Amino acid sequence: MSRRRSAPGPGSPDPSGAAAPSGRGRVLQVLDAVQRHDAAASAALTQALHGVEAGPDRAMITDVAYGTLRWLPALDAALGARLADPAALPAVVLDALRAGAFERLVRGTPAHAAVHAWVEEVKRLPGPPARLAGLVNAVLRRVALADAGGPPAGVGLPGPLWEHLAAALGPHATEAARAMLQPEPLWVTAYRDDAPELLRAEGAEARPGPLPGSWALRPGRPLGALAAFRRGAIQPQNPSSAAVVSALGEVAGRRVLDVGSGHGVKAAQLAAAGAAVEAVEIDARRSEVGRRNLARLGLNARHHVLDASVPMPEIPVVDAALLDAPCTGTGTLRGHPEIKLRWTPEEARRAALRQRAMLVAVAERVRPGGTLVYAVCALGLAEGPEVVAGFLAGHPAWRAVAPSVPLPTVPAPVGAWLLPSAEGLDGFYLARLERAEGAPSAAPPA
Ligand SMILES: C[S@@+](CC[C@H](N)C(=O)[O-])C[C@H]1O[C@@H](n2cnc3c(N)ncnc32)[C@H](O)[C@@H]1O
Repeated sequence: MSRRRSAPGPGSPDPSGAAAPSGRGRVLQVLDAVQRHDAAASAALTQALHGVEAGPDRAMITDVAYGTLRWLPALDAALGARLADPAALPAVVLDALRAGAFERLVRGTPAHAAVHAWVEEVKRLPGPPARLAGLVNAVLRRVALADAGGPPAGVGLPGPLWEHLAAALGPHATEAARAMLQPEPLWVTAYRDDAPELLRAEGAEARPGPLPGSWALRPGRPLGALAAFRRGAIQPQNPSSAAVVSALGEVAGRRVLDVGSGHGVKAAQLAAAGAAVEAVEIDARRSEVGRRNLARLGLNARHHVLDASVPMPEIPVVDAALLDAPCTGTGTLRGHPEIKLRWTPEEARRAALRQRAMLVAVAERVRPGGTLVYAVCALGLAEGPEVVAGFLAGHPAWRAVAPSVPLPTVPAPVGAWLLPSAEGLDGFYLARLERAEGAPSAAPPA
């Protein structure tokens, strides 16, 4: 997953006492923070929503800001057909056009209402940009989504990323990309049988997801404010992420290494299934969040702050390992639309080098006869099948077997894809690797 900074402060109360921004003004703050200040969409939105009560305005800001970012490449292509030189416009006006086009063309806001709202918003801008309200009016009335020689408009991806996904997913690429344009449900995994009742008692709507124990939630308030969360009854987790863990099979009573343990989402799942978990994370702060998260859920693991891209003699030999490797996150564009705006093939290549080094180091800690699941929430060949194929070529004691998971998969050249789906599943690549009994792990030196 790419590094993210928090937004530089849109939405925070204005110390000068100026009037609070309108709902669409807050949308513009999110678009600015993500595109020009390297903010993550979620952090920018949290700041922009500061002081906005739950209700239709909050829902509109969230929907239009996220939707515009998800559809941005297609919206820019559509606006490019109507504007001689979009880059010459003030950035804030271009963003108003993008958000207006999203509302009109995708969100289904009645055309006159969408155009009117964004023209009025531009009129309120300070300084010269307000004079461009007439242009905004003219463009928003005529703009239309159309394939413009690049990726199909309906996939909402920049050209290089579309080609990257299409090379990996073939005929499934369009559907996968389209699925990631849909709004995201808040998925949770239940850690207590009474979780649904606890949630309903607090007024949160919960509908069952595609896996036992997974629920799509409309919490009605921030998750951390729910007693069900604080008491350890639920953990935010996409069902695809839960399915990846189940590719390890039965883990009760086994020693399992969880590498790239982060906030402990998968470590918790393993511990709850009865594994003795060794959780390895390079980032001390994330490791600490992971430790506290497991404690909230009433679970235990041994936490190590270590670089897993080099040998880890301090880690015991384990029965099984899960390597949830850091990646470009292209299977999570629904929740992290900023990734598509920043992704480069070079970033995927760099990620693959690190993933390969981690796979080698983690495999060394797995006993003969043991299992390793390699997973990334990225949907390209470079970070998935090519990493695993490269590893297998140098490690004859290991072989790949078809992973068995409780969600539909599509075979990859080695391993399998869990595709993003319209109901809100994230995309993953996963491979299940088995080490031969009694065989050395590494290939002999040439
Ligand atoms: C995809 S996230 C893992 C999410 C986590 N498994 C979960 O389910 O909550 C990858 C994690 O790998 C960590 N990481 C990156 N490089 C690492 C390295 N060289 N050694 C160990 N952990 C690393 C990152 O800090 C990040 O937390």
